[in-house]
Amino acid sequence: MSANTAVPSLDKVYSEHVNPQWVRLLNLLQMNERYERCAGTELFTAGGSRILDFLSGYCVHNAGHNHPAIVSAIKEELDRGGPGMLQSHVPELAAQLAERLSARAGGRLRRAVFCSSGSEGVEAAIKFARAYTGRVGMLYAEGAFHGLTCGALSLMSDAFWRDGFGPMLPQTEAVPFGSVEALESRLATKKFAAFIVEPIQGEAGIQVPDPDYLRAAQNLCRRYGSLFVLDEVQTGMYRTGPFLAAHRYGLDPDMVILAKALSGGLIPVGAVLSTEAVSDAVFSSLKRSIVHASTYGENSLAMRAGLATLDVLEQEGLGPRSEALGNEFRRKLASALAPYEMVKEVRGAGMLSGIEFAPPRQLRLRVMFEAFRRIHPAMFGQALVMRLFRDKRILTQMCGNNFMVLKAAPPLVVSEAQLDEYIAALRDIVQLAHTSTEFWGEAMGLARRAVKI
Ligand SMILES: Cc1ncc(COP(=O)(O)O)c(C=O)c1O
Repeated sequence: MSANTAVPSLDKVYSEHVNPQWVRLLNLLQMNERYERCAGTELFTAGGSRILDFLSGYCVHNAGHNHPAIVSAIKEELDRGGPGMLQSHVPELAAQLAERLSARAGGRLRRAVFCSSGSEGVEAAIKFARAYTGRVGMLYAEGAFHGLTCGALSLMSDAFWRDGFGPMLPQTEAVPFGSVEALESRLATKKFAAFIVEPIQGEAGIQVPDPDYLRAAQNLCRRYGSLFVLDEVQTGMYRTGPFLAAHRYGLDPDMVILAKALSGGLIPVGAVLSTEAVSDAVFSSLKRSIVHASTYGENSLAMRAGLATLDVLEQEGLGPRSEALGNEFRRKLASALAPYEMVKEVRGAGMLSGIEFAPPRQLRLRVMFEAFRRIHPAMFGQALVMRLFRDKRILTQMCGNNFMVLKAAPPLVVSEAQLDEYIAALRDIVQLAHTSTEFWGEAMGLARRAVKI
């Protein structure tokens, strides 16, 4: 175990000028480290410790941290001294990246609009769906995570994110993820411009739908004149195996939102891929040629990073690799965790996996679990995350909208040995949770402190 490498003076400045609560939370979880270097799947701290990254900045680092080819493409672009962004010319790199993305996405997704984040992409998708259909309403799935700007937040049902920020956009409604009937009953009102959905829900707990659900949803959208929009901010860029999770299910969406891993985790980026018809409804005349844009959207560094990232992901075959290794990883993980009653399920696709925990049945464990849950419902998961980090030097997190599901989403370059390391580490921590009163004692202390601060 290595010493914590946080720098008190830096913490103080950050607390004073950025967000003091974030520093307190990291300290509480004993996760406040100072990182010096990150490469591939590994993070190196100032204290000389090596941490395995099984979070990837929430699916940003698909190509691995600081991939040398992406770093040098960005450096070259800077050295070239070309137009970073002018808002007055036809940007060559944006054209190239849009062409590559539309070729990869396939189907009718022939146009791209660039922006700088996933939330911004969702905002654009809301506007485009309204422009195309002339309708106002937006349907989304319960448990969804679409981003924290006002429009995107209006498409998230979890009160934790929304409280204090209302009112939200009008005519936004949630339907249960996976229910074709509920979706049809709302779409049939013909009030909704679009149904937006993550093809595999990430923060809701790595929810992999029934293979027919999304195709049925797409058909219903067509029948009732709503657009079918996929938020692939986490699932895209080969995270689940194919370029888009849409390809797993043979879908032909009207829009797809990408962000996060698109620029190799180095430059903010986002893209909304759409059909020509949707794009033409927005940019419908000369006068409306600039009706939707974003200053940094097509900046040359992000575009160049995007092109280099696609090269890396494709040349290294990281999609098929993550599909094959991911299946093997889940099989081994499920078998290693099978003896433990609190492990309910291991699921996922490609390198996006979730381990769902359930309350224990054994009386002795149940008493501790319930006492603990009463103090702070989210803290059981955080105790696991903290232990994995502190004792095993593995960075993970629970899903943002489901505190009983631990996420495992390493960079797609993760090695088999690193996957095995994770399995052994998690098994040890889960074993501890099932056998050690010290685990629960410490977790209880954590929960009590979390309530106090
Ligand atoms: C599925 C999904 N959509 C949208 C977003 C928002 O992206 P950003 O944080 O880049 O705005 C996220 C962020 O985690 C996400 O997971």
